[in-house]
Order: sequence, then structure tokens, then C-alpha cells
Amino acid sequence: MAFWGIVLGTLLAISVGALYLFGAFRRRRPKEPPLDKGHIPWLGHGLHFRRDNANFLQKMQEKHGDIFTTLIAGQYFTFLMDPLSFGAVVKEARAKLDFISFAKELILKVFHFRPNEDTHKLMQAASTKHLKGNGLEEMTQAMMKGLQRVMLHSLGSAEEQKPWEHDGLFHFCYNMVFRAGYLALFGNEPIQSGKEKETAKQYDLAHSEEVFVEFRKYDQLFPRLAYSMLTYTEKQEVKTLWQFFWNLLSVKHIYQKENISGWVHDQQEGLAEGGMPEYMRDRFMFLLLWAAQGNTGPASFWLFMHLLKNPQAMQEVKREVDRVVKESDQEVKPGGPVLSVTKEMLSKCSVLDSAVEETLRMSAAPLLIRAVMEDMDFLMQDGRVYVLRKGDKIGIFPYLSLHMDPEIHPEPQVFKHDRFLSLDGTRKEFYKNGKKVKYPTMPWGAGISMCPGRCFSRWLFLYMSPNLGTVGAWLMHSLCVRMVPLGT
Ligand code: HEM
Repeated sequence: MAFWGIVLGTLLAISVGALYLFGAFRRRRPKEPPLDKGHIPWLGHGLHFRRDNANFLQKMQEKHGDIFTTLIAGQYFTFLMDPLSFGAVVKEARAKLDFISFAKELILKVFHFRPNEDTHKLMQAASTKHLKGNGLEEMTQAMMKGLQRVMLHSLGSAEEQKPWEHDGLFHFCYNMVFRAGYLALFGNEPIQSGKEKETAKQYDLAHSEEVFVEFRKYDQLFPRLAYSMLTYTEKQEVKTLWQFFWNLLSVKHIYQKENISGWVHDQQEGLAEGGMPEYMRDRFMFLLLWAAQGNTGPASFWLFMHLLKNPQAMQEVKREVDRVVKESDQEVKPGGPVLSVTKEMLSKCSVLDSAVEETLRMSAAPLLIRAVMEDMDFLMQDGRVYVLRKGDKIGIFPYLSLHMDPEIHPEPQVFKHDRFLSLDGTRKEFYKNGKKVKYPTMPWGAGISMCPGRCFSRWLFLYMSPNLGTVGAWLMHSLCVRMVPLGT
């Protein structure tokens, strides 16, 4: 009898524990945002959120207003949909709203990488040194060489034109940008290894193509990997891909390369000095490759797609880029020297800048998350105060509540290349409810986790514009590529 009492007691304790874990006992406390746990224990709204997060958040906003807490796969997320209040999240101290502890969980899941206390600081220091200001010059030179290598290798000549090749615009842009970026960041095949220069070049071309193919496989699995939605077979595929990239980018391999970027080199050295084991540093290299490449190729596709579909926008961007190139005493012509883009040239490209910002407004959809480190009051811009609960997460999805808000950006579905262009050189202002919106777009994130590669990406878009835009016709022809827009 006593035995059965113990068994029943244990089962009861386990059931209560499980119900607690599944969130069955959670109730909305005074001053907390509206709570919506959905109908499925533990999973809550997980399925809808994973299927279409924009649609899910829109529906929740219609039901609960501009702040609410939802249960998603065992985790409570408070979503803030009021863009005027974003500053209060972005600027809050780390002791209250922390990016790092959330990022740690995510990168462990998607890269199997375990950062130490210094990893983020190291990343920020290397990025400030090599991806911004004067340090950018070296990176851009390397990227220029990479682009020349992958774009110009099969150039025809005036006498001997090569036959046309067909390619989809998405594949073409992503492939070029990825391969050039990979070579610029992780170096080239060394020439002193006995191979001739041409052989080393050919190796870089073939090798970067192979890496791109594997990267795209990972890319396609990535969103569902992040949401823990992979099937058993897909999980096995992810493990195989991890092994491929860890080996490819391993400390042993990359130190045999030539021209590794300072950005990669400094971070690798810093982690080694901090005592991180070599196998973990190999994993970090893959994280860097993904951070640098996951968005850049697709963004270049969207930019060119919009420019190709909007002849007036294309013409104005071309005109500006032509002028800036001319003022720099350079000329883009078949067989001529390749273009060198400086910081000064970048600063004169306000039309292109606006077109890039408009492209990212319509295509970049980051979900910015912070972990709530202690019970805290959260002050909305209109004066309302909500209590956030320790252990929850707070999320911002600027694509829905900012980029696509018709009050801030009228006709948000229409590409307007000059939407962000101000004729007097000042930054254009945007308003909601008569109040100025501090961040009219947030494609690069904001605050502590803001993308350190944004200046580099700007440079890249400018560099590619004259090549693909201004003299696109001859270059495309000489590259033997004919573009097939969208849907491919
Ligand atoms: C159009 C291209 C790009 C877009 C739209 C983009 C977007 C973003 C966003 C939204 C974040 C922040 C994520 C968050 O807050 O959770 C981020 C972080 C990051 N990006 Fe980019 N990125 C781009 C290109 C690049 C490039 C070219 C590099 C490097 C060469 C780069 C390196 C990084 C790194 C290292 C981080 C992590 C920053 C941190 O944790 O503090 N990105 N990026």
C-alpha cells in the first residue's frame, strides 16, 4: 500500500511539474501586457509563429494591441509593436534587457558554438577596426579583387565574343557576392605552394563554387533549424554540413591560405589567446562566414531586381554613379582598368543610398530579441507602463511594425527609390501619430547587436552598381550571362 502511495505521489509531482513547465499555471499579473498562451500546452502559438511570423504577429496585434506576451514552444515572448517605443528596448541597460544571453542560446543551436565572456567584445573590436572607418579600405580592396576574380574570369574580348549563358538573377547575384566575399574574408590558394598563378586562380574559382553550393544547402535549412523544426534526416544533413564547414574553415586550413582578412585573423588570434580550444574556434569561423554572407547576396539580388523593374530608378542611380565615377577620374569600359571605390565616392551617392535603404525596407526582416534579466517596468512612448517578467524575452519585428506601416511609409508595397532621399543633404524625417520616428528602418538591427558589416555592404552595393547597372549591357554580354528576373 505504502509502495503504491509513493508511486502515485511521484506521478502527481511529475504531472504538476510538467504542467508548470508547460505554462499551465501562468496567469497575467497586474500591469503585465495581455497574455495569450494559445490552446496547446507548452507549444502555445509555436506552429503559427514558425509557419508565418509576420502573419502571426499581425493577428496578435489586431487582438491585443501594440504589446502582448505569447507562449511559443515553452518560452514566453513579449512582442512590442509600437515603433515609437523601440528606443526603450534598444537603449535599455544589459543588466535588464540582454542581447548576449539570448544570442548564446541561439548560436549554440545553429552553429554548435559556445562563446566565452569575451567573444562578443572581440567581435565588436575586430569589426570596428576592419569593417568601419579607415580599416574598411583594406577589406574593400580584397573584396574588389574577389569580385574581379569571380566576375571577370571568362570575359570575352571584342574580337572573340563568348556565347551567351543563362542564369537566374538570384543565383547570379548571390553566387558572385558569396564567392567574392568568401575569398576576401578567408583568403586565396597560396601561389608559393608550387602551383602557378593561373592554377591557383582556377582553384579559387572552382573551390568557392563548391563552398557556395554547400552554403546554400545550409542556408535553406537555417530558418527551420533556428526554430527546431527539422526532420531527423535534415538534422543529419545539418551535422554533415557543420563538419564540412568546420573542416573547411578550420584553423589548420585557413592558416595555409594567403591574404586572410584582418577581420577573420584578429578574431581567430583573440579567441586563441583567450584560451578557447581549437575545435571551438573552427566553429566560430563558420559563424563569421554565415554572418557576413547570409544576407549580403540576397540583398544585392533585391536591389538589382528593383532597379531592373523600375527603369527610372535605374536611370537615376546610373546617372549618379556615372557622375561619381567620372569625378574620381576613372572610367568603366570594356578592357579598361577595374574600378576602385573609395569612402569619398560612397559619401556622394545619396540616390544609391536611398535605393539601398528602400530595398532593405522591403526585404530585410530581422527579429530582434532581448532576454529580460529581472522583473522590470517598461515605459511606452505614450506613458503607459508595463511590467516585464524575469526569464521572458522581448521581441521587435521592424518589418511589420515599421517598414510596412503605411502611416510611416505611404504605399509600403511600392518600391520608391527616392523615399529616403533628401534634396538638401539632411536625413529625411518620418512620422507616426504626429511624432517623429527615430528609426525609420532597422534592417541592420539596433543597439548593441547592430550589424557591424553595414558600411562594408554599402560599399559593395556601390561597387556592383556601375558593373551591373551603368554598363550592365556590355558587362553582362562579356560575362556571357543573360539575366532572368525573379521567380527563378
Ligand atoms: C545587406 C547585408 C546585411 C544585412 C541586412 C545584415 C543584417 C544584420 C542584422 C539585422 C544583424 C543583427 C541581428 C540581431 O540584432 O540579432 C546583424 C549582425 C551581424 N552582422 Fe550583418 N548584415 C549584413 C551584412 C553583413 C556583413 C557584410 C558582415 C561582415 C562582413 C556582417 C556581420 C555581422 C556580424 C558579425 C553580426 C553580429 C553582431 C553582434 O552580434 O554584435 N553583416 N547583421
